[in-house]
Amino acid sequence: MTALVIYDSVFGNTEKIALAIGAALSAPTLPVGQATPEQVSGLGLLVVGSPTRGFRPTEAVSKFLNELPKNDLAGVQVASFDTRIALETIDSSVFRFIVDKGGYAASTIAKLLEKKGGKLLAPGEGFIVMGEQGPLKEGELERAAEWAKQLI
Ligand SMILES: Cc1cc2nc3c(=O)[nH]c(=O)nc-3n(C[C@H](O)[C@H](O)[C@H](O)COP(=O)(O)O)c2cc1C
Repeated sequence: MTALVIYDSVFGNTEKIALAIGAALSAPTLPVGQATPEQVSGLGLLVVGSPTRGFRPTEAVSKFLNELPKNDLAGVQVASFDTRIALETIDSSVFRFIVDKGGYAASTIAKLLEKKGGKLLAPGEGFIVMGEQGPLKEGELERAAEWAKQLI
Protein backbone atom coordinates (compact mmCIF):
# COMPACT_ATOMS: atom_id res chain seq x y z
CA MET A 1 0.00 0.00 0.00
CA THR A 2 1.32 3.46 -0.86
CA ALA A 3 1.20 5.71 2.18
CA LEU A 4 2.20 9.33 2.74
CA VAL A 5 2.44 11.51 5.84
CA ILE A 6 1.99 15.29 5.45
CA TYR A 7 2.51 17.67 8.36
CA ASP A 8 3.13 21.21 9.47
CA SER A 9 5.18 22.20 12.50
CA VAL A 10 6.24 25.54 14.00
CA PHE A 11 8.54 24.48 16.86
CA GLY A 12 9.42 20.98 15.61
CA ASN A 13 7.27 18.81 17.89
CA THR A 14 4.68 17.85 15.25
CA GLU A 15 7.53 17.09 12.88
CA LYS A 16 8.95 14.57 15.37
CA ILE A 17 5.54 12.90 15.70
CA ALA A 18 5.09 12.88 11.91
CA LEU A 19 8.49 11.25 11.41
CA ALA A 20 7.67 8.58 14.02
CA ILE A 21 4.39 7.87 12.20
CA GLY A 22 6.16 7.82 8.83
CA ALA A 23 8.78 5.39 10.13
CA ALA A 24 6.10 3.09 11.57
CA LEU A 25 4.29 3.08 8.23
CA SER A 26 7.48 2.99 6.13
CA ALA A 27 6.00 6.04 4.43
CA PRO A 28 7.57 9.21 3.10
CA THR A 29 6.95 12.17 5.42
CA LEU A 30 6.61 15.61 3.85
CA PRO A 31 6.22 19.14 5.22
CA VAL A 32 2.95 20.54 3.84
CA GLY A 33 4.86 23.17 1.88
CA GLN A 34 6.44 20.44 -0.22
CA ALA A 35 3.25 18.44 -0.85
CA THR A 36 1.19 18.70 -4.03
CA PRO A 37 -2.40 17.64 -4.79
CA GLU A 38 -1.08 15.19 -7.42
CA GLN A 39 0.86 13.31 -4.71
CA VAL A 40 -2.20 12.49 -2.63
CA SER A 41 -4.72 11.24 -5.16
CA GLY A 42 -4.44 7.49 -5.66
CA LEU A 43 -2.64 6.85 -2.35
CA GLY A 44 -3.59 3.85 -0.22
CA LEU A 45 -3.25 5.85 3.00
CA LEU A 46 -2.82 9.56 3.71
CA VAL A 47 -2.03 10.78 7.23
CA VAL A 48 -2.11 14.54 7.90
CA GLY A 49 -1.01 16.32 11.07
CA SER A 50 -0.67 19.84 12.43
CA PRO A 51 0.00 21.66 15.66
CA THR A 52 -3.25 22.89 17.22
CA ARG A 53 -3.12 26.68 17.08
CA GLY A 54 -6.20 28.64 18.10
CA PHE A 55 -8.18 25.37 18.27
CA ARG A 56 -7.48 24.53 14.64
CA PRO A 57 -4.77 23.40 12.18
CA THR A 58 -2.23 25.85 10.78
CA GLU A 59 -3.26 27.97 7.84
CA ALA A 60 -0.90 26.00 5.56
CA VAL A 61 -2.58 22.67 6.37
CA SER A 62 -6.13 24.06 6.05
CA LYS A 63 -5.25 25.75 2.76
CA PHE A 64 -3.66 22.62 1.31
CA LEU A 65 -6.68 20.47 2.17
CA ASN A 66 -9.26 23.07 1.14
CA GLU A 67 -7.58 23.52 -2.22
CA LEU A 68 -7.51 19.82 -3.11
CA PRO A 69 -9.80 19.16 -6.06
CA LYS A 70 -13.25 17.77 -5.26
CA ASN A 71 -13.11 13.99 -4.65
CA ASP A 72 -9.30 14.05 -4.91
CA LEU A 73 -9.21 11.58 -2.00
CA ALA A 74 -11.83 9.18 -3.34
CA GLY A 75 -10.61 5.66 -2.56
CA VAL A 76 -7.89 6.95 -0.20
CA GLN A 77 -7.89 5.84 3.45
CA VAL A 78 -7.17 8.82 5.68
CA ALA A 79 -6.25 9.64 9.27
CA SER A 80 -5.32 12.81 11.14
CA PHE A 81 -3.33 13.85 14.19
CA ASP A 82 -2.32 16.99 16.01
CA THR A 83 -0.11 18.15 18.80
CA ARG A 84 -1.73 20.06 21.64
CA ILE A 85 -0.69 21.58 24.93
CA ALA A 86 -0.86 19.62 28.19
CA LEU A 87 -3.71 21.24 30.09
CA GLU A 88 -1.84 20.94 33.40
CA THR A 89 0.89 23.27 32.10
CA ILE A 90 -1.63 26.14 31.71
CA ASP A 91 -1.61 28.27 34.88
CA SER A 92 -4.89 30.13 34.36
CA SER A 93 -7.94 28.00 35.10
CA VAL A 94 -10.05 30.12 32.74
CA PHE A 95 -7.59 29.65 29.88
CA ARG A 96 -7.33 25.95 30.69
CA PHE A 97 -11.11 25.64 30.40
CA ILE A 98 -11.15 27.52 27.08
CA VAL A 99 -8.37 25.38 25.56
CA ASP A 100 -10.09 22.20 26.76
CA LYS A 101 -13.43 23.16 25.21
CA GLY A 102 -12.13 24.97 22.13
CA GLY A 103 -11.43 21.94 19.98
CA TYR A 104 -8.33 20.55 18.34
CA ALA A 105 -6.72 20.46 14.89
CA ALA A 106 -7.07 16.71 14.30
CA SER A 107 -10.88 16.75 14.15
CA THR A 108 -10.90 19.67 11.70
CA ILE A 109 -8.33 17.90 9.52
CA ALA A 110 -10.41 14.70 9.62
CA LYS A 111 -13.48 16.62 8.43
CA LEU A 112 -11.54 18.23 5.58
CA LEU A 113 -10.08 14.86 4.51
CA GLU A 114 -13.55 13.33 4.46
CA LYS A 115 -14.93 16.33 2.57
CA LYS A 116 -12.46 15.56 -0.22
CA GLY A 117 -13.65 11.95 -0.42
CA GLY A 118 -11.22 10.24 1.98
CA LYS A 119 -12.30 7.24 4.05
CA LEU A 120 -11.55 8.01 7.70
CA LEU A 121 -9.88 5.06 9.46
CA ALA A 122 -9.91 6.38 13.03
CA PRO A 123 -10.87 9.49 14.98
CA GLY A 124 -8.21 12.23 14.93
CA GLU A 125 -5.51 11.61 17.54
CA GLY A 126 -3.78 14.20 19.73
CA PHE A 127 -0.22 14.07 21.01
CA ILE A 128 0.80 16.17 23.99
CA VAL A 129 3.44 18.88 24.32
CA MET A 130 4.53 20.17 27.75
CA GLY A 131 4.25 23.89 26.95
CA GLU A 132 3.77 25.91 23.76
CA GLN A 133 7.18 25.08 22.36
CA GLY A 134 7.39 21.56 23.74
CA PRO A 135 9.04 19.27 24.54
CA LEU A 136 6.78 16.36 23.71
CA LYS A 137 5.40 14.54 26.72
CA GLU A 138 7.46 11.44 27.51
CA GLY A 139 6.31 8.40 25.57
CA GLU A 140 4.45 10.29 22.83
CA LEU A 141 6.80 9.22 20.02
CA GLU A 142 6.26 5.59 20.94
CA ARG A 143 2.49 6.15 21.22
CA ALA A 144 2.51 7.80 17.77
CA ALA A 145 4.24 4.76 16.26
CA GLU A 146 1.70 2.42 17.90
CA TRP A 147 -1.20 4.58 16.70
CA ALA A 148 0.17 4.48 13.15
CA LYS A 149 0.59 0.71 13.19
CA GLN A 150 -3.03 0.12 14.18
CA LEU A 151 -4.11 2.12 11.10
CA ILE A 152 -2.74 -0.66 8.92
C1 LIG B 1 -0.40 30.94 18.91
C2 LIG B 1 -0.59 29.58 19.54
C3 LIG B 1 -1.86 29.07 19.68
C4 LIG B 1 -2.04 27.81 20.28
N1 LIG B 1 -3.31 27.33 20.41
C5 LIG B 1 -3.50 26.12 21.01
C6 LIG B 1 -4.81 25.58 21.17
O1 LIG B 1 -5.81 26.16 20.77
N2 LIG B 1 -4.93 24.38 21.79
C7 LIG B 1 -3.85 23.67 22.23
O2 LIG B 1 -4.02 22.59 22.79
N3 LIG B 1 -2.58 24.16 22.08
C8 LIG B 1 -2.39 25.35 21.49
N4 LIG B 1 -1.12 25.84 21.32
C9 LIG B 1 0.03 24.98 21.65
C10 LIG B 1 0.47 24.30 20.36
O3 LIG B 1 -0.39 23.21 20.12
C11 LIG B 1 1.93 23.86 20.42
O4 LIG B 1 2.72 25.02 20.26
C12 LIG B 1 2.23 22.87 19.32
O5 LIG B 1 1.62 21.62 19.59
C13 LIG B 1 3.70 22.65 19.14
O6 LIG B 1 3.87 21.93 17.93
P1 LIG B 1 5.04 22.34 16.92
O7 LIG B 1 6.31 22.23 17.70
O8 LIG B 1 4.98 21.34 15.84
O9 LIG B 1 4.79 23.72 16.43
C14 LIG B 1 -0.92 27.07 20.72
C15 LIG B 1 0.36 27.61 20.58
C16 LIG B 1 0.54 28.84 19.99
C17 LIG B 1 1.94 29.39 19.85
